[in-house]
Amino acid sequence: MKILALNASHRGNQGHTRFLVDKLAKGATDGGAQFEVVTLAELKINRCLSCGKCNTREHYLRCVYDDKDDVRGVFNRMAEADIIVFATPVYVFSMPGLLKTFLDRLYATGDVFDLRLTKSGMFFHHLDPDICSKPIVALICCDNTEKETPQNLISYFRTYAKFHDAPLAGLLVRNAGRFAGHGRDPGAFERAPRLAAAYQAFEQAGYELATTGRVKPSTQKAASQNIIPMPPLIRLLKNFQPVKRKMLEQARKMTRFANGDV
Ligand SMILES: Cc1cc2nc3c(=O)[nH]c(=O)nc-3n(C[C@H](O)[C@H](O)[C@H](O)COP(=O)(O)O)c2cc1C
Repeated sequence: MKILALNASHRGNQGHTRFLVDKLAKGATDGGAQFEVVTLAELKINRCLSCGKCNTREHYLRCVYDDKDDVRGVFNRMAEADIIVFATPVYVFSMPGLLKTFLDRLYATGDVFDLRLTKSGMFFHHLDPDICSKPIVALICCDNTEKETPQNLISYFRTYAKFHDAPLAGLLVRNAGRFAGHGRDPGAFERAPRLAAAYQAFEQAGYELATTGRVKPSTQKAASQNIIPMPPLIRLLKNFQPVKRKMLEQARKMTRFANGDV
């Protein structure tokens, strides 16, 4: 079993995304898989020019940048993998430009004039199944705690999976990253006692991917659980503005504490 993770954080290997990918990798290698990480921020990735050359006879399914940047090399590695992990932070309610620029280049791997019906019953054009139709895992992290924040990305990967006939083998969402110290602050475990269980679930997710090819719903839930301790009554009361304002005050103090930037 070969698992390839694409890390889309602009902070490359320094960020929370990489920290979470490493948890996944630990579980996956314990489960006997080979786990590789591609750090997109380290690569040269030109943007699709929409020149359409990839759909001409002379240049069929080849991009004008194939010999000039690193994208085709990553596509080749995707083609060799059994599972692809898209590991991405939320940037302004969506994906980082780096990941979108990379994904736009998939356009050069499909014949847009060859219309087909996907297994899920969608009209779509030909694409390279070796690159696009592998089981995928979406690993999403963000700092905000509202449910809406990662929604666009969750929806994006569900749509991607549907049109590409790529089973969504896992959906792992880790919010409150700043509160948790982005995986780099030992004090985070005191602030958020549930954090250890959430990180443990990322390792478990890796193990399940390696051994069964998918992440169990219960493991996804544990990885994505709310880590900010909140009694049920407060959770209810938080719908009232004055309570929410009080919580905001508290959160501000904690965030500053976590950053050490008071
Ligand atoms: C340009 C930019 C935009 C961001 N937008 C959001 C956002 O809309 N919502 C959110 O919760 N976090 C947002 N964040 C915070 C990141 O999602 C968060 O810090 C994440 O951990 C970054 O990944 P990294 O630690 O791997 O770099 C943003 C960060 C940056 C740099």
